[in-house]
Amino acid sequence: MLKDKKIILGITGSIAAYKAAYLIRGLIRKGAGVQVVITPSGKEFITPVTLSALSRRPVISEFFSNRDGSWNSHVDLGLWADAMLIAPATASTIGKIANGIADTMLATTYLSCKAPVFIAPAMDLDMFAHPATQQNLERLRSFGNYIIEPAEGQLASHLEGKGRMEEPDRIIGILEEFFAAQHTLQKKKILITAGPTYEKIDPVRFIGNYSSGKMGFALASACARRGAEVTLVTGTVSLSAAHPAIKRIDVESAEEMYEAAVSAFPDVDAAILCAAVADYRPEAISTEKIKRESAKDMTLHLTPNKDIAATLGAMKRKGQVVAGFALETNDELAQAGEKLKRKNLDFIVLNSLREPGAGFRVDTNRISIIDNRGEVQHFPLKDKRDAASDIIHKLETLLT
Ligand code: CTP
Repeated sequence: MLKDKKIILGITGSIAAYKAAYLIRGLIRKGAGVQVVITPSGKEFITPVTLSALSRRPVISEFFSNRDGSWNSHVDLGLWADAMLIAPATASTIGKIANGIADTMLATTYLSCKAPVFIAPAMDLDMFAHPATQQNLERLRSFGNYIIEPAEGQLASHLEGKGRMEEPDRIIGILEEFFAAQHTLQKKKILITAGPTYEKIDPVRFIGNYSSGKMGFALASACARRGAEVTLVTGTVSLSAAHPAIKRIDVESAEEMYEAAVSAFPDVDAAILCAAVADYRPEAISTEKIKRESAKDMTLHLTPNKDIAATLGAMKRKGQVVAGFALETNDELAQAGEKLKRKNLDFIVLNSLREPGAGFRVDTNRISIIDNRGEVQHFPLKDKRDAASDIIHKLETLLT
């Protein structure tokens, strides 16, 4: 999978820089080409001689070559690469690249890089846990970068905790998985609904729900990364979809989501209905703000919304796949199975609100997948992005 892949390896000033030597050796053995870009403080921890001998290329550190003054073009490098890996990534470099501070060759290369970027942090546990670092990492994730979470263990400070750079073999494995998965949905068109719907009561109020959209956005990125063209119809969320293959349609209400999804559906190979759609909306929307004095008690008359999943399930032609979600609180498997049949879905992803770490407003999910042949797969608690891979794996088996 790594054969002939061109990898920029960014190395920063951390004790874990010695592991970069193993990374280069492992990548070269798999047939990749490696160009090292190291920060000035990185050179305090590992010598460019070791790195250039292993990578069989001169190591780049400064904007100009010390030898003959020639310019090292970060733009050319950024375009050359199939992937950039920053390992180890210190808190300082993470902070710089998250905020566009381009005062090292490594940071300018990052800003010019068109290829996917993988970042493997290495630092002391308190530095890693600090909100400044965590917010910077979140920002990098929102740009579509992949953060390779550090492992727990003994740190250079002799403290124990999370901050150790992930082991080189594991990092290489992540790159291999990435390249292996890159084309599995090539030429496929996927429709995804995500987030909550807002049902207007008056110009300032609405009925909504706690859906953050994270699961749907994770699915959209994962499909785009595998080569699919994605139409993402989303309710109001504070997330960004960074991949150019994602066409985002913002909607507010269930009716708007229904219109957008039904009109996109005939052109797609699959639809994943991840949105938390309101089942009801106020029958009448007040054009003016409802005043407190207007009534002592207040009753809202609600009318049912159309079911997007059931509509697409009924429209489905041969070869199209429709998947839904079920969030249940009791008798989960039976309820989800019933929903699958009622909406004519190919499979349904169940998450139970009883499971700690699953459901709304969290980054993790514990899912089960039930298909229309009655097959059930249970998965352990995972980050929503990893849960997205499991869901897409199921989709791939049905599409091919
Ligand atoms: N769904 C939809 N349109 C709706 C309601 C739900 O597309 N108007 C989709 C959801 O996106 C999800 C699946 O249907 O994929 C199940 O949603 P859920 O709210 O659990 O199902 P409901 O049919 O609303 O059943 P209930 O609320 O009674 O559990």
